[in-house]
Amino acid sequence: MNGFQKQEIEFTINGKRWSGRIHPMKRLLDAIREDVGLKGTKEGCGEGECGACTVLLDGKPVMSCIVPVCQVHGHEIITIEGLEEAGKLHPLQESFLRDGGAQCGICTPGMILSATAYYNDPRIAKDLTETISGNLCRCTGYTKIFSACQHAMEKRECCCGEKK
Ligand code: FES
Ligand code: FES
Repeated sequence: MNGFQKQEIEFTINGKRWSGRIHPMKRLLDAIREDVGLKGTKEGCGEGECGACTVLLDGKPVMSCIVPVCQVHGHEIITIEGLEEAGKLHPLQESFLRDGGAQCGICTPGMILSATAYYNDPRIAKDLTETISGNLCRCTGYTKIFSACQHAMEKRECCCGEKK
């Protein structure tokens, strides 16, 4: 990474502010794993094709292997570690556990984060299939992933208290 000096970069990750001197073109994936020290975000292809490295950037799924860390300066990131609240798993995490939506687990954090964006705001995609269409899984055949997402969505309550 020649031609750039390290820069002070700051962002919020899982609700906590993080800052440090870092090469601006370092992949967000590597910054999260190496500099922030959160290992839940996985690398699959490393080329923006598989979705394994998905995190939420200001609530929207992005593939962190193709995002330079300078682009997240001042923004908010959620990784798989940030979904749990007060020791309680997110409903999507619970569903994946219950329905057997994970096997080797490489795709799982990214898959859950893509689904979380839809869980939080179903307007972001036509349907669940479209939501997770950028996340590839080599193990499960997708059926259990899809049913885990559906079960979580069925239990989801909208802001007016009605089941969606
Ligand atoms: S590792 Fe980022 S899209 Fe495959
Ligand atoms: S569980 Fe192995 S790639 Fe999806």
